[in-house]
Amino acid sequence: MHAAAFISALVGLGLVGAAQAGFFPSELIQLTESDVGNFSALAFGNPSRASSAPPCRGWPGTDSWPSDDEWKQLNVSLGGALLRPVPVASVCYKGEAYDAARCRYLVQQAGRTHFWIEDPLAVLTQWPQGSTCVAALNAQGNCTRGGSPEYVVSATTVRHVQAAVNFARNKNVRLVIKNTGHDFGGRSTGAGSLSIWVHKLKEFEFIANYTTAVYSGIAVRVGAGMESFELFNYMAQHQITVVSPGGSTVGVVGGWLAAGGHGSLTSKFGLGSDQVLSINVVTADGKFLTVGPESTGGLEKELWWALRGGGPSTFGVMTSVVLRAFPPISVLSVPVGFSGVRLVYRYCAKVLDAGGYCYSFIYPLGNASFTFSNTATLPDLSSAAATALMAPLFDSLQTAGINISAPRLPERAATPYAFGRRDGGGDSPVNTRYHSRLFPRRNWGDDALYAATWDAIQRGIEEGGYTFHGIAYGPTEAVAGPIGADSAVNPAWRSAALHGSYMVTQPAGPITALDQAERDAKAKRYVDAWRTVTPGAGAYINEGDPAEPDWQASFYGAANYPRLLAVKKKTDPWGVFWARTTVGSEGWEVQTPDGYPFSQNGRLCQVGI
Ligand SMILES: Cc1cc2nc3c(=O)[nH]c(=O)nc-3n(C[C@H](O)[C@H](O)[C@H](O)COP(=O)(O)OP(=O)(O)OC[C@H]3O[C@@H](n4cnc5c(N)ncnc54)[C@H](O)[C@@H]3O)c2cc1C
Ligand SMILES: *[C@@H]1O[C@H](CO)[C@@H](O)[C@H](O)[C@H]1NC(C)=O
Ligand SMILES: *[C@@H]1O[C@H](CO)[C@@H](O)[C@H](O)[C@H]1NC(C)=O
Ligand SMILES: *[C@@H]1O[C@H](CO)[C@@H](O)[C@H](O)[C@H]1NC(C)=O
Ligand SMILES: *[C@@H]1O[C@H](CO)[C@@H](O)[C@H](O)[C@H]1NC(C)=O
Ligand SMILES: *[C@@H]1O[C@H](CO)[C@@H](O)[C@H](O)[C@H]1NC(C)=O
Ligand SMILES: *[C@@H]1O[C@H](CO)[C@@H](O)[C@H](O)[C@H]1NC(C)=O
Repeated sequence: MHAAAFISALVGLGLVGAAQAGFFPSELIQLTESDVGNFSALAFGNPSRASSAPPCRGWPGTDSWPSDDEWKQLNVSLGGALLRPVPVASVCYKGEAYDAARCRYLVQQAGRTHFWIEDPLAVLTQWPQGSTCVAALNAQGNCTRGGSPEYVVSATTVRHVQAAVNFARNKNVRLVIKNTGHDFGGRSTGAGSLSIWVHKLKEFEFIANYTTAVYSGIAVRVGAGMESFELFNYMAQHQITVVSPGGSTVGVVGGWLAAGGHGSLTSKFGLGSDQVLSINVVTADGKFLTVGPESTGGLEKELWWALRGGGPSTFGVMTSVVLRAFPPISVLSVPVGFSGVRLVYRYCAKVLDAGGYCYSFIYPLGNASFTFSNTATLPDLSSAAATALMAPLFDSLQTAGINISAPRLPERAATPYAFGRRDGGGDSPVNTRYHSRLFPRRNWGDDALYAATWDAIQRGIEEGGYTFHGIAYGPTEAVAGPIGADSAVNPAWRSAALHGSYMVTQPAGPITALDQAERDAKAKRYVDAWRTVTPGAGAYINEGDPAEPDWQASFYGAANYPRLLAVKKKTDPWGVFWARTTVGSEGWEVQTPDGYPFSQNGRLCQVGI
């Protein structure tokens, strides 16, 4: 019997509590051979006997697509958890679904609520969907499904996840995984797909003493659907600290943690992937596994390594993770300057060494000027200590003729990191494209290189008209500690002093492939100048450019990529899990009728077959 099934039996008999067993109740409900029964579409896979995949994934309306009866039978096996949602903005388009009041709500109010996060189809970055059904008051044309999935499994148990993975694999259906839909690169949506929606897997457990070979202390188990603000509320309730995303409705377990994941304690305690003590995951063969430091051999050891930083939607569907926790901590923010960009940023290295980070935007004003705002946030420091830490910066600004003096911090400027975030605020669809780079600390150590770095950044702001967003972090190996040290996270993070990006807003409606190619080429010119001053560094995939050249090396590290690809090929020879710029994704591409670069609005086919 599989370990999880065995423990499940013990729990059923009341011999073991769910907490000790290392599973949430939702994880104790698993797919069995008898559930598969005579419905062979649900059968488990065997990676060593995988046959090569057909040239393309099935396509709705063709013979390659499962029959209505098969979808019906899948739904029965899922206990009714199969959804066939329509894009919500269909109410804005002429036709049966038209509803002016509802459309007004979507356009004017829904963004102040969780409406978009709660929708099984919607993703916040719209362009990868193909902009075929955008919410707008005077919408023209027809609303079509475009790059949205055909069917969604609203998973509330591991069994749901396993059945969906098996069905997609056995029936050659494109599979996507969606959690919050925050992804900037369209990795949680796709045309002609079955989507596993993990949003409802929201269980939480506080573990007073979690002991393994590498860790002993407080910890939390977090379900795959947990959003950052929800984890903050639990932190406040249990008086603990956990590294969590800055964006309050970003998922804690999905794309964030799988690709590193930064948050306000990243210079002090590391990245999201540095917190992980154990992972429960459904792999491409449909099996449910636990991997952790105790996975010391074979493929499980490789999966444990790869799942921490090696990217989302590649090796499995995580259903829950155990994260280390810390005692309560306070944080304090100091506004540091609206000018003197280069001096301020140079000084931010000291902020990183103190476990803090700098957060800034530079907005171009359309001529050779721009506005700059920057805040240094410091954990675990008193107002007096923070003032002392920052004083030399203000002295050097004065020396440079920049007349700003140190802000006077109230004695109790520090606030608890883990105050409750209530409902986490609202979210609207956005159309942001990132072009980013992890700038290494060595660029701070040399005057000429530092100047060249900022010359390169400034050019894109002044000439290119880009908004620059900089977050200075230092999740070094020492900060990551033994847990994070041997993980697949992009090594560029370990030597980084700045995660810098040009942020571009894509037009909301459709634009031509040619226009987009021009936009991409322009951004590439400016970011190439960054690459020149940061040879061998990389970029953070979650806030990276879908058009990143040599993305394998840039997003994963040239040294890590071959090992990651080997894990992918061994665990998922079928290519069940696919999303652009994930490990092994170069073997497939979405064939879009309009040629729009990196859109998910088309059929997924193997490259060169
Ligand atoms: C408003 C906003 C704020 C942000 N703030 C931060 C921040 O503070 N720090 C930071 O590092 N990043 C931040 N990001 C970027 C964020 O890390 C990415 O958007 C990330 O992909 C979100 O992951 P998700 O699971 O919430 O979203 P989704 O779009 O649902 O999923 C992202 C990817 O993860 C996969 N995935 C989801 N769940 C699972 C699972 N259970 N198992 C396997 N794969 C899964 C999906 O298939 C997809 O490939 C922010 C983004 C936005 C829009
Ligand atoms: C599968 O088994 C069920 C009963 O267990 C039966 O009703 C159904 O007809 C069978 N289907 C096939 C395809 O054999
Ligand atoms: C699946 O079954 C449930 C419950 O019977 C039903 O409400 C739902 O509409 C079905 N889904 C599909 C896609 O038909
Ligand atoms: C929208 O759909 C209708 C009915 O199917 C069709 O007649 C019309 O040409 C479509 N419009 C566009 C812009 O495609
Ligand atoms: C936690 O458990 C381990 C192993 O059972 C034990 O050695 C350790 O003393 C415990 N720590 C606390 C704080 O209870
Ligand atoms: C640049 O433009 C902004 C607004 O467009 C204006 O306020 C500012 O004075 C200009 N600065 C210079 C140096 O021309
Ligand atoms: C610097 O600013 C302060 C107050 O903001 C002002 O009183 C002082 O005159 C300024 N000094 C110079 C040299 O401009």
